[in-house]
Amino acid sequence: MKNIILTGFMGTGKSSVGKELALRLNYRYIDLDALIVAEAGISINEIFVRSGEAVFRSLESKILVSLKGEEGIVLSTGGGAVIADENRHVLHTLGAVINLSASAEEILHRLQHEHDRPLLNDDKSLDRIRELISRREPFYADADFRIETSGRFIAQIVDEILLLLKRCETRGEA
Ligand code: S3P
Repeated sequence: MKNIILTGFMGTGKSSVGKELALRLNYRYIDLDALIVAEAGISINEIFVRSGEAVFRSLESKILVSLKGEEGIVLSTGGGAVIADENRHVLHTLGAVINLSASAEEILHRLQHEHDRPLLNDDKSLDRIRELISRREPFYADADFRIETSGRFIAQIVDEILLLLKRCETRGEA
């Protein structure tokens, strides 16, 4: 398996799962948002405030494209990285795309004390989370595997992913 790509809404556990998965596979862990922050030299909140979402999205796409050719990475993507068709195409070219999901209630619980999600900073309500998730559902569904994370430990999720990948390899799909 070349690379593992984690997609999913904010708070679905992409970073925690990604880090643990990378350790277990002896792959490098890359966080797309961290690369964006490094490139911009300011926080994601600041990018949204100073330049707007469109500028953030174009940085996101540019950095994603620059990852083409990488091997042996676990990449966790920001929750909106799957919206653009070209981005999803790049993700599938990079490796196996695994979508993590969680209930809106669980997401709210996980993010309630966070203030670094510009799309939820003004309205962190269940309705807002549900609305964004349902708008994005077709893009999250564009994945090789989907895993529900609500009420589960990171280690269980990682075990499930490793099992799925092993089955693919056995069938010669990876
Ligand atoms: C976003 C999710 C964030 C970050 C940015 C936009 C989104 O990443 O990329 O705030 O559009 O859902 P996380 O999913 O890692 O929180």
